[in-house]
Amino acid sequence: SAAEKGGYDYFMLKEIAEQPRAVADTLLGRIDAAGSLSLDEVRITASELREMDKVVIVACGTAFHAGLIAKYAIEHWTRIPCEVELASEFRYRDPILDPRTLVVAISQSGETMDTLMALRHAREQGAKVLAICNTNGSTIPRESDAVLYTHAGPEVAVASTKAFLTQLVACYLVALYLGQVRGTKWGDEIQAVVRDLSHIAGAVEEVLGTMEPVRDLARTLADKDTVLFLGRHVGYPVALEGALKLKELAYMHAEGFAAGELKHGPIALIEEDLPVVVVVPSPRGRSVLHDKVVSNIQEIRARGARTIVIAEEGDEAVVPYADHLVRIPVTPTLLQPLVATVPLQVFACELATARGNEVDQPRNLAKSVTVE
Ligand code: AGP
Repeated sequence: SAAEKGGYDYFMLKEIAEQPRAVADTLLGRIDAAGSLSLDEVRITASELREMDKVVIVACGTAFHAGLIAKYAIEHWTRIPCEVELASEFRYRDPILDPRTLVVAISQSGETMDTLMALRHAREQGAKVLAICNTNGSTIPRESDAVLYTHAGPEVAVASTKAFLTQLVACYLVALYLGQVRGTKWGDEIQAVVRDLSHIAGAVEEVLGTMEPVRDLARTLADKDTVLFLGRHVGYPVALEGALKLKELAYMHAEGFAAGELKHGPIALIEEDLPVVVVVPSPRGRSVLHDKVVSNIQEIRARGARTIVIAEEGDEAVVPYADHLVRIPVTPTLLQPLVATVPLQVFACELATARGNEVDQPRNLAKSVTVE
């Protein structure tokens, strides 16, 4: 009913709007007054976590994209090797697991069969499993050694939005907590990131307030067949997520690429007026990557692409090459996906509406996939 949708036309719009609160709620009570993480609820002891020599993340779909982003954070902040694998592929290739492997299973519903089978396999091999889950008491957390719940609240729309942002927050918390208990040399940086995380809900709110031009743009693209998404570093999984949203909702051909791969093949796809969404890394810090992505934008535009550029406020280098420019607030590099994903969700939702599609219940899809 309209009341359930809180005045929005679709649950997806309501859930997109709820993201600042969902992010804040997922942090709530997990950062103490001194700015340290307290994750006592995670029933794997600090000494067990100190013993871990590998992290393996398993998940499907959007949750898998959260895992891809988590890898950058986990390896950077903890120096523990981290692999990310589609849950449906995992157990079929005889993965190497032992009691020093921490398997992180990410699932909004907690009922995804592929993810459940992957974690069962991991536990049979003696690995410890930590679930990141949005549904209290669901099967995946019940069968795991430990759980860190995301506090997105119920997600009704089939296309995952607020659950994704909270999965990212939970992944950052796990990464920072691992760093904290293991006392990595990034100690100071970890404190700073914890502070930045506590401001991120406000940044998401800021993005939500500037989405009208993104909606206008989406409506003009309703008759296109293909949209490409490019990103680099943590922007690469964001590009994959933008493409998945567009497939699910708009039933358009959409693909995400790592920007550095363009020259190895995908650039052949560029033709006159093809919309290409580019997620630009921050010009601060890893500026080498920023400059490379700006060159990519130049290259594709020279070949006729219509460039839709998602770039940080104050990034002036992109201006000459952006047919459409979407600004996002300045965030630390690793946290950028929390703000960069939002315009892609809005874009896909609006394109779906413009194409007359059912936003909350896309064809052929179910909210939780309980078959393998
Ligand atoms: C996301 O928009 C999808 N509908 C889908 O990819 C989903 O993320 C995937 O099926 C995993 O679901 P889960 O998080 O409930 O395990």
